[in-house]
Amino acid sequence: MKALITGATGGIGSALAEELAQKGVHLILASRNVAQMEEMQNRLPAPVEIVAVDLTRREDCYALYERVKNKKVDILINNAGFGVLGHFSETALETELEMLALNVEAVHILTKLFLADFRRRNRGYLLNVASSAGFLAGPGMAAYYAGKNYVLRLTEAIHEELRQEGSAVRICALCPGPVQTGFQKRAGIRAGMKGISPKQAARAGLRGMVRNQAVVLPGVSTKLGYLGQKFLPEELVLRMTYAIQSKKKG
Ligand SMILES: NC(=O)c1ccc[n+]([C@@H]2O[C@H](COP(=O)([O-])OP(=O)(O)OC[C@H]3O[C@@H](n4cnc5c(N)ncnc54)[C@H](OP(=O)(O)O)[C@@H]3O)[C@@H](O)[C@H]2O)c1
Repeated sequence: MKALITGATGGIGSALAEELAQKGVHLILASRNVAQMEEMQNRLPAPVEIVAVDLTRREDCYALYERVKNKKVDILINNAGFGVLGHFSETALETELEMLALNVEAVHILTKLFLADFRRRNRGYLLNVASSAGFLAGPGMAAYYAGKNYVLRLTEAIHEELRQEGSAVRICALCPGPVQTGFQKRAGIRAGMKGISPKQAARAGLRGMVRNQAVVLPGVSTKLGYLGQKFLPEELVLRMTYAIQSKKKG
């Protein structure tokens, strides 16, 4: 088995790489930090190839696909992503466009290209790392939440299309709440938010992907949060989300 993981140098991506390497899965890691990927190449107990890419650049997304398309990838994990915290009127436009290019456009491009190959072979797994933010509007982190809504809904829709076709190809959205990774620092979220471990998120995602779940909510608090937002009035959920985002400011 061969798996391509975007954003494998830290957090959830790194934990996914470790879980798969333990199972002897051949890895292709695609991120910017070459030194970190080389360290993983030396450490992990499975063959590891590395591809240096900046997936905010559309041409790098295509170049990544061209580089690996004949390697018979069985699993694509779209994990690379980051967040931008703050009122929409105050956040930097360029940073937010980069975030959307990575969190939305790169996921769209790679899903499209690999799904076509997987359907031709009638085999393959896609795991898109969305977020519990994908179920909500996110005042205080508006564009990040909107982008994750896109990834979640895209994945759910493709899951149903594949089911209708009777395809053996699988696609799954992993929707964690807070996870202890480098994500918080990059987004400017102050320390102290509790969350599950990257390992817990990775294990739940891989399990759900293999079981053909459309959506995976790792951890009890993520599941409770999901139920809460489903049954509470939307206006109240918006206010609660805003209060949570406001607390995250450092
Ligand atoms: N942590 C949370 O609380 C949480 C909750 C829900 C969902 N998520 C989602 O989980 C995913 C992984 O995040 P994480 O929490 O593991 O964060 P992280 O520890 O900051 O890891 C992010 C990964 O994305 C890669 N990356 C960032 N910019 C990139 C670029 N331009 N091109 C290619 N790779 C890039 C980084 O690698 P390089 O720096 O080497 O490029 C790194 O490996 C994201 O999609 C995030 O939205 C996180």
